[in-house]
Amino acid sequence: MTKTTERASIFKKIMGQYPTGVTIVTTMDENKNPVGLTVNSFASVSIDPLMVLWCIDKRSSALNAFLQGGKYAVHTLAVDQAEACWAFAGKEKDRFSKVQWETSSNGLPIIKDSLGIFECKTVNKIDAGDHFILLGEVIDLFVNEKEPLLYYNRNVAGIPADWPNQ
Ligand SMILES: Cc1cc2nc3c(=O)[nH]c(=O)nc-3n(C[C@H](O)[C@H](O)[C@H](O)COP(=O)(O)O)c2cc1C
Repeated sequence: MTKTTERASIFKKIMGQYPTGVTIVTTMDENKNPVGLTVNSFASVSIDPLMVLWCIDKRSSALNAFLQGGKYAVHTLAVDQAEACWAFAGKEKDRFSKVQWETSSNGLPIIKDSLGIFECKTVNKIDAGDHFILLGEVIDLFVNEKEPLLYYNRNVAGIPADWPNQ
């Protein structure tokens, strides 16, 4: 391996061992068709105002819809949404047939029964290597009382049974 590919491989290994939650981020394309993908680069940014960010691969088939749409919805996934996680991470064309969804008053595709939902307007698009960082200001948010889906080492699962209870 060249030094560059070796470093990339160590980078991926380290990130694969960094546990995260999982989200699905959605928007409407120019023909008002819903588009979305599974994302774990999601992070909270600011409380005042409420802001979040996530990163989209420049090769994503949904890239133009997200760059031009001006708004997006982040769904933090619950433990019973593993199937949706994989459906929105593959090459499947008809991802939205795998979930129950509706259009919000903000015109965004909302996946029902998600753990949490942030509807956002895009306030900055930052060119970052092979991704764009999409910084969003939260315009609406909802939460359900559910357990989260966790992602680690290319697998998803619920909270381990021995996780400490306070
Ligand atoms: C757990 C997980 C997290 C992912 N996180 C991201 C991410 O943060 N950004 C991204 O662009 N793709 C991410 N992906 C990959 C996309 O979901 C996947 O490449 C995309 O759905 C492929 O279809 P597309 O080319 O039509 O976008 C992730 C996949 C998985 C399984």
